[in-house]
Amino acid sequence: MTTTLAFDVYGTLIDTDGLVSQLRETTGEKAGEFSRIWRDKQLEYSFRRGLMQNYATFAECTRNALDYTCDFCKVSLTVEQKEELLESYRTLPAFNDVEENLQCLKSAGFRLFAFSNGSADAVETVLGAAGIRELFLDVVSVDDLRSFKPNPAVYSHFLRKSGTSGGNAWLISGNPFDVIGAVSAGMRAVWAKRSPEAIFDPWGIEPTLVVSSLAELDESISAYLAVKGIGDR
Ligand code: 2OP
Repeated sequence: MTTTLAFDVYGTLIDTDGLVSQLRETTGEKAGEFSRIWRDKQLEYSFRRGLMQNYATFAECTRNALDYTCDFCKVSLTVEQKEELLESYRTLPAFNDVEENLQCLKSAGFRLFAFSNGSADAVETVLGAAGIRELFLDVVSVDDLRSFKPNPAVYSHFLRKSGTSGGNAWLISGNPFDVIGAVSAGMRAVWAKRSPEAIFDPWGIEPTLVVSSLAELDESISAYLAVKGIGDR
């Protein structure tokens, strides 16, 4: 049975701190904090909209979160400066370990998908700009359901769209909430621990595997499948 890998996009393949140097031009020393709060609020807004069943695209959550972050950090940006940041967000860079290792995983026979809170159009754009779109069989977006991770329905939607089942499908994500959501919905999941300081939520729902770089994925997943007697990837 071929193993399917669902790669989360923002925070896993794509570096959401990739605008810190651009932010430095307008926010100075606050750039790092600004970037972190912007990302945290973007996710919070997606969670809240999912719960409220009051959907707006992830790009809209990103826009609202930018306005909030400017107020919170007491940074005054013009409409044009905000538009420039939002435009740059559409072409955020990939992490350094992405292209080479995804190429290896694809060559090794894994089925690769991008699976994101971003709309299909936004994900196609960011993956295309990073030069990695052709590595994926398809892009699966939560936008199809007008909801967000970690709603269990969106993980089921991924399984349906990718034509696989929970036991053969792995989520690969740098976001602990996403890993917990996938495991809770019956998928296997790898936490890509992108920084040594990153903390996994202590809920008692653990990742199937933890890696510190995407370079470890093939060996870790293959060893896991062998131990479980699941056979070839
Ligand atoms: C994504 O779905 C969670 O932001 C992350 O791409």
